[in-house]
Amino acid sequence: MTVQQRVAVVTGGGQGLGRSFCLALAEAGWAVAVVDLDLENARAIAGKVEASGGIAKGFHADVSDENAVSRLAEQIEGGLGAVSVLVNNAAIFSTLSMGSYDEISLQTWKRVMDVNVTGTFLCCKEFAPRMAAAGYGKIVNISSATVFTGRPGYLHYVTSKAAVIGLTRALASEVGPQGVRVNALAPGSTETEVERATITREAREKMAGETALRRVQVAEDLVGTVVFLASEASDFVTGQTINVDGGLAFH
Ligand SMILES: NC(=O)c1ccc[n+]([C@@H]2O[C@H](COP(=O)([O-])OP(=O)(O)OC[C@H]3O[C@@H](n4cnc5c(N)ncnc54)[C@H](O)[C@@H]3O)[C@@H](O)[C@H]2O)c1
Repeated sequence: MTVQQRVAVVTGGGQGLGRSFCLALAEAGWAVAVVDLDLENARAIAGKVEASGGIAKGFHADVSDENAVSRLAEQIEGGLGAVSVLVNNAAIFSTLSMGSYDEISLQTWKRVMDVNVTGTFLCCKEFAPRMAAAGYGKIVNISSATVFTGRPGYLHYVTSKAAVIGLTRALASEVGPQGVRVNALAPGSTETEVERATITREAREKMAGETALRRVQVAEDLVGTVVFLASEASDFVTGQTINVDGGLAFH
């Protein structure tokens, strides 16, 4: 691949895990399109990459809006070049309230599916054909280890992240012959710079105590797997879900 072709898109790259994925991919040599609903955050992360000698640009898009995703693909190709890596990380997550299955409103349910599932679908629908035309591409979908533990109070979220695993498998089968690899990463509960009402420090430490590695998970624990799935090192891996949770669930 030429340097110009090493372009990675990270949705929801403006904060949290997406932010760490952008920094790690940039450090590993990709030009990074930092995509977020919050353009200011996306630009700030792109600025951080550029300040350390990498290449990045911030873009605004709502991944659940088909026209916005099409426009985004054109803007990224025009601004950075052809995309070979897509990390579908944007999701309704840190802003989500927990509640029992019979307390979740239909409106909240639909919005979670729209962003977490349809957003992933729309980005795949837009970028996979472009990768297929080039004969090579890597898609990394961010799922969640809650799919394996079935965390209570998160029915909408866990269902959406299970759908991401199904999408990963079915799409991998379809686009494999064109050289596009599609895998999922399932992170365990991970501490980021973003405060969440859904988990306390005590709950996090209790969960860490139940893992094989016995410590709280941080964003840096995930970047190696993202870079691996984005790189040629994983070229014979597709349709898989890698669970990275310090050994809480054994998948
Ligand atoms: N942090 C964890 O413990 C954890 C664990 C398992 C899985 N995950 C998954 O990892 C990913 C990142 O998690 P996080 O902790 O950084 O979450 P976060 O809520 O802090 O960040 C999500 C980012 O996505 C953006 N976003 C939301 N809706 C969007 C939309 N419609 N279009 C574009 N951007 C949008 C937000 O603006 C934000 O920058 C998510 O997919 C989440 O479900 C997180």
